[in-house]
Amino acid sequence: MKYRLFGKLGWQVSVLGFGCMRFPKTEAGRIDVPAAERMVKYAVEQGVNYLDTAYVYHEGESEHFLGEILKGGWRQKVHLATKLPCWEAKTPLDFDRLLNEQLQKLQTDYIDVYLLHALDGQSWQRMRGLGVLEWLCKIKTEGKVRAIGFSFHDCFEVFKEIIDAYEDWDVCQIQYNYMNQNYQAGTRGLEYAAARRLGVVIMEPLLGGKLANPPQRICHLFETFPRKASPAEWSLQWLWNRTEVSVVLSGMSSMEQVAENVRSASRSAPESMSREELVLFEKVQKTFEAIAPVPCTACGYCLPCPSGVNIPENFSVFNKGVMYDDLEAARWEYQSLKQNQGEASVAEACIQCGTCEPKCPQKIAISQWMPRIDAVLGKGQTYNP
Ligand SMILES: NC(=O)c1ccc[n+]([C@@H]2O[C@H](COP(=O)([O-])OP(=O)(O)OC[C@H]3O[C@@H](n4cnc5c(N)ncnc54)[C@H](OP(=O)(O)O)[C@@H]3O)[C@@H](O)[C@H]2O)c1
Ligand code: SF4
Ligand code: SF4
Repeated sequence: MKYRLFGKLGWQVSVLGFGCMRFPKTEAGRIDVPAAERMVKYAVEQGVNYLDTAYVYHEGESEHFLGEILKGGWRQKVHLATKLPCWEAKTPLDFDRLLNEQLQKLQTDYIDVYLLHALDGQSWQRMRGLGVLEWLCKIKTEGKVRAIGFSFHDCFEVFKEIIDAYEDWDVCQIQYNYMNQNYQAGTRGLEYAAARRLGVVIMEPLLGGKLANPPQRICHLFETFPRKASPAEWSLQWLWNRTEVSVVLSGMSSMEQVAENVRSASRSAPESMSREELVLFEKVQKTFEAIAPVPCTACGYCLPCPSGVNIPENFSVFNKGVMYDDLEAARWEYQSLKQNQGEASVAEACIQCGTCEPKCPQKIAISQWMPRIDAVLGKGQTYNP
């Protein structure tokens, strides 16, 4: 494993962090505890020392799972990060209640990195109004948390405003990958945060998995290069090439993925990519942009839909159909979704109420996409980009 300095905190953190949001699941939709435990412990044995969870991951089960499996000395081997669910905090009294619940579930006296979850312009103003900065300072002084920060889903200007408003931020967590260089905080945000000596944690490095399984024409582009690596490794190496990046979180869902990403991490180094390789990424990005219609990362924040629409699944089916140029397969998948998860799960059931849209970190116009998706996949119409 390779390690990097974690901003002004001075900690040595593993370049690969375990994102605890995409564990393997049982048929009942719960965490497959034995499989997930093996994966986390294998990663830690291989040197991964940063685990990222949150109050809401796996519908609240992720923190509890980690609390259980980190007993018996594992807790001390890792930096444990979790997040305050800002949307659950209606009054300042909720802060302590939520943190105490998280400490209890994680079975620990302290959290290494405590983040305000998914800040955007609106939630930032609301949290500030509730006195969250004073409270963060208090819990750090009390030793309940060792470092404080925020995860982020908005534009660069809001990112800069948040960083400039508080000099005691230790860490920020941003969505970043070769397809998101000018999206949300983007490259400007990465550089801005690192210049202020914040530890920078990367989320969605494979765009929720999409960059690991790209269409054939993108695989061909990668294959033209002398260095042999899978699309997943190429994507991760692109991130590790940046000196400003501290930890790259990967939400791994199988042991094979953990093993591959651990191997990739051990081969990483800042500024190790050649000019030719970086040019290749520009080509890959342009090719991808030309084909993927909806930037959904399957984070699930938009759920539940009051009508029962499985929003990320509909986007996933549609995106794959367009990207892989196989709308027939996507139409078949759409019907399967309807059969397996019920009539209400497909785009056809959308009543365009708009409830989902403010919750989407990618700011996708979901209510406009759903009728389009149903027209193409449900009613067999042609897709006109
Ligand atoms: N704070 C926030 O607002 C926020 C939002 C999103 C994420 N996060 C955090 O950031 C972490 C990372 O984000 P993410 O989970 O979206 O990461 P990601 O790496 O972009 O996507 C994870 C998916 O990539 C695929 N994958 C990973 N390694 C692979 C490999 N070697 N080969 C093939 N496929 C591979 C898996 O897809 P399949 O399961 O389909 O195989 C996995 O579920 C999360 O787990 C979470 O801890 C935070
Ligand atoms: S707009 Fe459609 S998908 Fe979104 S919450 Fe309303 S019914 Fe569900
Ligand atoms: S539509 Fe938005 S909130 Fe819903 S899963 Fe996709 S990216 Fe996440």
